[in-house]
Amino acid sequence: MVREPAQGSTTTRPSHTDAGYPPRTGGPATFGQLLRAHRTQRGLSLTQLAALVHFNRGHVSKIETDKRPPSVSFAEACDRELDVGNTFTTIASALEAASRHQQGWIQPAQLPPAKKNFVGRRDHLTRLERLLPGDQHSLALPVALISGPPGVGKTALAVQAAHRAVNDGHFTDGQLFVNLQGPEPGTAAAPHDVLEDLLRAVGVPTDRIPTDLDQRAATFRSFLHGREILLVLDNAANAQQIYPLLPGSPGCAVIVTSRSRLPGLMSRVDATTLPLAELCQPEAAMLIRAIIGDTRADAGPSAVTVLAERCGHLPLALVLAAEHIVSHQHHSADTLATELKPEHARLNLAEGDIALRNAFDTSYRALDEQSARMFRLLGILPGHLIDATTTATPAGITHNEAARLLHSLASAHLIRSQDEHHYHMHILLRAYAADLARKLDTQPQPTKAIHPTAKPAATPTQPSLVA
Ligand SMILES: Nc1ncnc2c1ncn2[C@@H]1O[C@H](COP(=O)(O)OP(=O)(O)O)[C@@H](O)[C@H]1O
Ligand SMILES: [Mg+2]
Repeated sequence: MVREPAQGSTTTRPSHTDAGYPPRTGGPATFGQLLRAHRTQRGLSLTQLAALVHFNRGHVSKIETDKRPPSVSFAEACDRELDVGNTFTTIASALEAASRHQQGWIQPAQLPPAKKNFVGRRDHLTRLERLLPGDQHSLALPVALISGPPGVGKTALAVQAAHRAVNDGHFTDGQLFVNLQGPEPGTAAAPHDVLEDLLRAVGVPTDRIPTDLDQRAATFRSFLHGREILLVLDNAANAQQIYPLLPGSPGCAVIVTSRSRLPGLMSRVDATTLPLAELCQPEAAMLIRAIIGDTRADAGPSAVTVLAERCGHLPLALVLAAEHIVSHQHHSADTLATELKPEHARLNLAEGDIALRNAFDTSYRALDEQSARMFRLLGILPGHLIDATTTATPAGITHNEAARLLHSLASAHLIRSQDEHHYHMHILLRAYAADLARKLDTQPQPTKAIHPTAKPAATPTQPSLVA
């Protein structure tokens, strides 16, 4: 497939003379002239060069006649195919920098900091590393969707992958990061407002930002056209929220994180979905160790393992537990693991303004009434394998209705599908659902359906765990 890249500044003469440009007097003076000189020297026709660099002939011709500025990706292809080191890339970069300067382009660098203690996620990082730079033979925008339950590490993975891509030399025109505030209805950021922030972030003056949503989206796409920008859309509520924010150019890439699988997304973009589950046991223990330090961890390695298990290997719970140990001088992994033995006690893990329960609340409050009732019921049903047959009767609904509700809970990542008909619930989400059921469901459930160890209605509190 051939590419037809950006229109931009029409000058193709760089404004400075670094990297030996322009060449000695008498030689080619512009990018176009230099390209033609190298092409003819190799006996290549325009059509042949166009085929080699995977751009169309008309585009190459316009660049050769200095009617169109070369993009850096075009220059890279020329360097590679004509085997001239980084001759063309250097000139194209200088031209782009000069053009950006003229347009008032601000190079955004909005990524939050990466974490030193990042563990695991090797496969996900490898997939993102391949996906984000895009395929030079494709016109499609690379989009990755990282989805999973609250606190599983979606944002952490997106930020880590983004930093790695930048570190590898990609997205040199900038990186944008937006918190879309999903999934609770009412709190999700409106695309109209997000676009205003994004346009400002790339240097569009306020008086040039249109008021209409579609025009804002079009202006954003125009501004990004031909640039290599990474856009991280964190915590998306639904697919509709992100459509207007998507760049059009293949040189850009987008990482979306969401607690939902974002139904409908695939109809607009070819998104690659990366579902995220909790860490494996060694990684979970490694994360606790990295935060509490070797001395404390070595004092009770088996306690670290037990603690990691009691946190269900969920990164948010692991981080909160480890932080709790660090901030309470006399606490060890062992004492905290003992405190967290009762499942409901784990829900009170909190440090500073971050609380496990709040993270779960946000997902729960986004559920419709029927799904919320089914979710609470799952907290008190015995057995760990969930299916429509065993939930329909205690829920007082038909098999089909139960199957539909289970599917919607899986889509919100509040349960995980094991096969076509069966699901699992994470240990902490189960404790949370049971807690809600005790507080909210006054109607007694059928005796058989009640978990044998379910506690009477009460508000579980573990004050020592609350920051
Ligand atoms: N792979 C990981 N390594 C280290 N820390 C992690 C990892 N994944 C998540 N965390 C930490 O766990 C907490 C929750 O992760 P976060 O990315 O905010 O979850 P989510 O976005 O899925 O709700 C954060 O403090 C984050 O830094
Ligand atoms: Mg997040």
